[in-house]
Amino acid sequence: MTRLIIDTDPGIDDTYALALACVSPDVDLVGVTTVFGNVGLANTTRNALRVLALCGREDVPVAAGADRPLVHPHGHRARQVHGEDGLSGMSDTLPRRTTGLAGTDAVSLMVRLLDESPEPVTIVAIGPLTNVALLLAAHPAVRSKIERLVIMGGGLDGGNVTAAAEFNIWSDPEAARRVLAEESVPTTLVTLDLTVRCAVDSTWLDRLAASGPLGDTLVKLSATYRSHYRLSLGYDGVVIHDAVAVAEAIRPGLLRTTGMPVEVDCGQGPARGMTIADRREHHTRDSPRRIDIALDANLDEVRAFLLSRLAG
Ligand code: RIB
Ligand code: CA
Repeated sequence: MTRLIIDTDPGIDDTYALALACVSPDVDLVGVTTVFGNVGLANTTRNALRVLALCGREDVPVAAGADRPLVHPHGHRARQVHGEDGLSGMSDTLPRRTTGLAGTDAVSLMVRLLDESPEPVTIVAIGPLTNVALLLAAHPAVRSKIERLVIMGGGLDGGNVTAAAEFNIWSDPEAARRVLAEESVPTTLVTLDLTVRCAVDSTWLDRLAASGPLGDTLVKLSATYRSHYRLSLGYDGVVIHDAVAVAEAIRPGLLRTTGMPVEVDCGQGPARGMTIADRREHHTRDSPRRIDIALDANLDEVRAFLLSRLAG
């Protein structure tokens, strides 16, 4: 059984990721925390509550976290990709949750859940890393209760929100640098380089839609996202970045990783938010922190795993 806390900014692909965790019998989803990102915090939090209700998991506590980056606030969200409300304008069609927020903030909820857990917990971060950076900075003792961080973010060969940077990292580079370069918690980074290669096509989506009510709703919620990726990919498909990260958290080794030091550009120039992996064999700095970067996988195996789980 894999114990998960998911920190998220739903978001369409976040929705697939949350659903994957909810429907997986080998996952104990102990909590969900929300962060600004694809849309504002109020919307990501409302969406997280409603997606969990959709999946029949109103038992999972939800707490809202950071509504802006650590240092340099900005107003850029990804509404053009996920829709104004973060769910293709369909958030209001989802079931309203009868139980609300956990009555505490995201970092406090993560601390409580980690303290209470009899086993270490995997934290899957699929939005900006602001909450995770705050958790580790304010409560360093929780490190011993974290099995590993599985982070969707970064791109070694270019970005998506800018030519250099991937959205989650770019949204809060200072938080990302703290987590990726300075912390000591075992970390797996699932990069854009790999998630794009795991794109699913219309056949995959049709099979999911035909699998039952949850699959049908997930595909319907993807409308805006699918339009964006039809242009980006050049064919009718989507990239469910965050679900690939949750899949790795559920099945360690599904993705093939390489250990490398990673830096994050925190300047104010065109490379802001860029992730720079040191691929040199002999690193100049003595024993720099290495993180496990997922750069390859059996792509059909990943797609099949996602469909088999989400389609029930
Ligand atoms: O770059 C992709 C990431 O940014 C995903 O987590 C997506 O949900 C957006 O947050
Ligand atoms: Ca996300």
